[in-house]
Amino acid sequence: MNLQDKVAVVTGGASGLGRAATQLLVDAGAQVVIFDMNASAGQQAVTELGAKSARYMQLDVSNGPDVESAFKAILADLGRVDVCINCAGIGIAAKTVNREGQPHDLDLYRKVI
Ligand SMILES: NC(=O)c1ccc[n+]([C@@H]2O[C@H](COP(=O)([O-])OP(=O)(O)OC[C@H]3O[C@@H](n4cnc5c(N)ncnc54)[C@H](O)[C@@H]3O)[C@@H](O)[C@H]2O)c1
Repeated sequence: MNLQDKVAVVTGGASGLGRAATQLLVDAGAQVVIFDMNASAGQQAVTELGAKSARYMQLDVSNGPDVESAFKAILADLGRVDVCINCAGIGIAAKTVNREGQPHDLDLYRKVI
């Protein structure tokens, strides 16, 4: 895969699936912008990937206006966005249906963040 001169945004790119995707994109020649809430991990990723290939923007992707501003800033600075990979998120384990036959609480994530 040749992504030379392409610009990619990876949400949650500072850790886990997003960090792995970021590495693949950089290895293929893309310039990557990481959107992530975790500033220390985001900066660490840029250090590892190299500032020529990656940059970091501290962002909560659930904040629509902030995301819009970030894309505008990228378009103003880099002129394009070719790829967007969305990995930002949290994982919560819960039984689909418990022993009493009750489904898990769909608002569970709101109670842990
Ligand atoms: N790892 C897996 O095998 C797997 C499997 C299925 C689903 N998932 C889901 O994929 C997502 C990523 O998983 P992961 O293992 O890479 O997790 P991870 O915790 O390693 O990475 C997630 C990254 O997203 C960032 N993040 C979380 N909420 C954010 C927000 N609102 N705005 C910006 N950044 C935010 C975190 O700071 C973190 O750096 C999670 O939602 C997880 O539940 C993961």
